Amino acid sequence: MKSKAAVLFEVGQKLEVCEVDVADPQPGEVRVRMVAGGVCHSDLHVMTGHLVAPVPAVLGHEGAGVVHDVGAGVTSVKPGDHVIPLWRLSCGECEYCTGGRPALCAIGTEIRWSGRLADGTSRFSLDGRELKHFAGVSTFSNYTVVPEKAILKIPADIPLERAALLGCAVITGVGAVINASQVRPGRTVAVFGTGGVGVNVVQGAVLAGAEKIIAVDLMASRLEEARNFGATHLVNPADGDPVEQIRALTGGRGVDYSFEVIGLPLTMRQSYDCLAKRGVAMIVGITPTTAEVTVSSLSLVYEERVLTGSLYGSAAPKTDIPRLIDLYRAGSLKLDELLTRSYPLEEINEAYADLESGATLRSVVTF
Ligand code: CU
Repeated sequence: MKSKAAVLFEVGQKLEVCEVDVADPQPGEVRVRMVAGGVCHSDLHVMTGHLVAPVPAVLGHEGAGVVHDVGAGVTSVKPGDHVIPLWRLSCGECEYCTGGRPALCAIGTEIRWSGRLADGTSRFSLDGRELKHFAGVSTFSNYTVVPEKAILKIPADIPLERAALLGCAVITGVGAVINASQVRPGRTVAVFGTGGVGVNVVQGAVLAGAEKIIAVDLMASRLEEARNFGATHLVNPADGDPVEQIRALTGGRGVDYSFEVIGLPLTMRQSYDCLAKRGVAMIVGITPTTAEVTVSSLSLVYEERVLTGSLYGSAAPKTDIPRLIDLYRAGSLKLDELLTRSYPLEEINEAYADLESGATLRSVVTF
């Protein structure tokens, strides 16, 4: 069938909205009519080449929609169901899947790098030329085909534009706090970068009962957003070394946990340098593919600091996202405040320009 989709033909170019062909779902696959696609920074990293991905590709990895039809053998969803595509396919059987870390499953990595589905082929084409899937989901298409294992059914009463954000920004940010770091009540937290994922780290820290939540960002508007999501202290590196500012706010001690949600070696280093003894620095930001970070090796031993990272909120999305929906319903998870704008698909490049300038916190494109 024909579908409007945003395609990246070459790295360094803008997205082009064009009419592509979407093949029927094969056995074990689901065709989804997307209602909203989340405008996440990771796709921008692919456009600029910071993050390597096969092209030409239909981008987008966050979103929500309605099942249109299903391939043979699909039992968990049926046409009409509301669903979120999960951008990290997992087999459900390997040591990482059964150990509660499905994002580390090898099949997700394979699909991410091949740009094709599990059988090694693509469902997208343009004039007979193959287009790649992005992360196995390609949510910037009115219709997309996703493996059943990467489909989560959600209740029909959650607005799909908001549900879309659960699939990347919310689970990545909240999960980095709750799953990866297991922040304890009363502890101190610093968050470097308070965009769409960063404010979710902030609200994850609120949910975990952190005592001080220090937001760090160069953009004053982003710091204000962080305050709305529960940050107790705001640090702007334009006012001086953020590490010193954080130490001053914690009586010289440093923070128990820091989160880097930007993807720059400099801020990764700062997120490590601002730690207290036994502190944990959690890298969440998507870094350029070849970037490296160095830290003082002495502090690893004499201060028992930890530098590590979290992929996809270190989550088990199929159990964690329903819990997030419960928290949203209970009024403890801010989702309405997170979605600051929606654009028609045709304006996707404007949506990305607004994301870069800081005019939007999190937006979606709609079909
Ligand atoms: Cu994302």
